[in-house]
Amino acid sequence: MPTPKIAPSMLSSDFANLASEAQRMLTFGADWLHMDIMDGYVSDMAKPLLFHFVPNLTIGAPVIESLRKHTKAYLDCHLMVTNPLDYVEIFGKAGASGFTFHVEVSKGRIIMLSDHPIHSLRLQFRLLMVRENTADNWQELVKQIKSKGMRPGVALKPGTPIEEVYPLLEGENPVEMVLVMTVEPGFGGQKFMPDMMNKVRTLREKYPKLDIEVDGGLGPSTIKTAAAAGANCIVAGSSVFGAADPAEVISLLKTSVNE
Ligand code: DX5
Ligand code: ZN
Repeated sequence: MPTPKIAPSMLSSDFANLASEAQRMLTFGADWLHMDIMDGYVSDMAKPLLFHFVPNLTIGAPVIESLRKHTKAYLDCHLMVTNPLDYVEIFGKAGASGFTFHVEVSKGRIIMLSDHPIHSLRLQFRLLMVRENTADNWQELVKQIKSKGMRPGVALKPGTPIEEVYPLLEGENPVEMVLVMTVEPGFGGQKFMPDMMNKVRTLREKYPKLDIEVDGGLGPSTIKTAAAAGANCIVAGSSVFGAADPAEVISLLKTSVNE
């Protein structure tokens, strides 16, 4: 099993005190800081029109840039955005360490779904734009991520089969981490989905040395399941920030992965 990495999700931190929250987590033993970048839609109506990836709006590159001035820590950026290629350069400049994009968009497949005729033209246009930018061309995306000095990773939503990431782990420019979402992306504090462990197990069998990250609902009550399945990078937001003793939770998470 590759080295355990415990990555508190800063989404659960006090954003108004981000630098000190980050420092607090590192002092408590965090290995990475997990940064959730979301491109936000507000209503189901806006989903097809605006073509965004998740129903929440969080932080962008300027926040990463500000935080970078306060810490040398590994900033594990999870981009829940429709068009990751647009963000590679600015995140590289901002000081991101890891750049994890979603497989659902790398295939230009993020179409949602409105049958309403009003939406259809706009939808097609957006689809074309996505195709032009990411266009099944994840190799180019990964190459660019690396060229900006970041570590490429791919994430998948609960409904996406694990087989979808296999091609991204082969070839000249493979991703270096797979993030298996254990909740629907968008918010912290949701319930861990144990069914996702089949994906982790399958992936671990096939790639013994790969960094496999789990994200969503991880904490003292779910870590053993995730670690036994083969996850070694653990994102934990509410269970760490909401704990009376976050250092104790971080240490418990790490021990469980090591066992
Ligand atoms: C959800 C995010 C997670 C989230 C995890 O879209 O990707 O990183 O913050 O939070 P918890 O650990 O509270 O489920
Ligand atoms: Zn995340």
